[in-house]
Amino acid sequence: MKRRRAALILFLLYMILLLVSCSKPDSGKEVKNPEEGEKIRIGMSFDSFVIERWQRDRDVFVSTAKELGAEVNVQNANGNIEEQKKQIEYFIQKGMDVIVIICIDSDDLKEQVQKAKEAGIKIIAYDRLIVDADVDLYITFDNEKVGTMMGDALVGAGISGGNVLMLGGSATDNNVSLVERGFKKVMQENDVTILDSIHAEGWKAEVAGDYIYDHMDVVKQADAIMCGNDDIASEAVHALAEWKMAGSILVVGQDADLAACQRIVEGTQVMTVYKSVEKLAQRAAECAVMLAKDEHIEGEDVASINNGNYEIPYVGLEPISVNEENINEVIIGSGFHLKEDVYLNVPGKMPE
Ligand code: GAL
Repeated sequence: MKRRRAALILFLLYMILLLVSCSKPDSGKEVKNPEEGEKIRIGMSFDSFVIERWQRDRDVFVSTAKELGAEVNVQNANGNIEEQKKQIEYFIQKGMDVIVIICIDSDDLKEQVQKAKEAGIKIIAYDRLIVDADVDLYITFDNEKVGTMMGDALVGAGISGGNVLMLGGSATDNNVSLVERGFKKVMQENDVTILDSIHAEGWKAEVAGDYIYDHMDVVKQADAIMCGNDDIASEAVHALAEWKMAGSILVVGQDADLAACQRIVEGTQVMTVYKSVEKLAQRAAECAVMLAKDEHIEGEDVASINNGNYEIPYVGLEPISVNEENINEVIIGSGFHLKEDVYLNVPGKMPE
């Protein structure tokens, strides 16, 4: 009798162990399931909120994640990579299920990513690639295409055979080299001379303004200025205006900031690139929840990309080139900005 009872207890123990082991994914962390009331916890570390678009990325990501049963802890590193590392370490200590990173330096977070992975935490590189690190997803727009669009817009405005000045974004942002690769290819194909090329450290747009004030000899030779983003374009056009040159030199940028859209309808910026941060943030939030539940990320937009040492899942969304011809359809039609805001300074040009 005793022997049978002991055998039964051993069998029950074995079954319990078997059940417990099959609920643990290969990541070793408990699989969360919002339906059962267990909150998925996501940590999100932003480079900064100085640039207009990131506030929109944040708001859409948080609201989408909440709808999907997750809570998001948002941190702002204010452009400081050491601060961003501390934030990631904090999220690891707190046992987040997923950490989403808008990295300040694409090449300086390997160690933090490794620690997170060892703790069974999933990592999403949001909009900017983290190189040589085992991230679970890199989701962004086609950055090389952004550069190609900038180049094509200048060619369309007649720059072939002319001169261009490049006031690029932060050299530590992997996106910048991709944008510039696409842009330079178009410039080369159209015999455009690159007079100079600088990078705004930490995306600090004032670097561009200072350059123009200090290098007016070079600026006066330029037929166009390629700006790494619309924040830099704002500084560039402001500086040009002080020399009464705004509108006489072609300017391109990206992000479809409101100020850039205003410049486009006012004639002091040729184009910007609209990147639907709504779509990016929603898709990223959906993927974050799937990763937290140890689900496989699937979809027609899912590919893979090599980030140095790893082949990682990649989702690349399509950017849209915006100029005076399509700004109403793309920017106002999508609700990205209101027509009253875009045409604030030229109400006579505002569409019905
Ligand atoms: C880059 C991004 C650009 C722009 C920039 C900051 O990483 O690709 O779209 O947002 O950051 O303005």
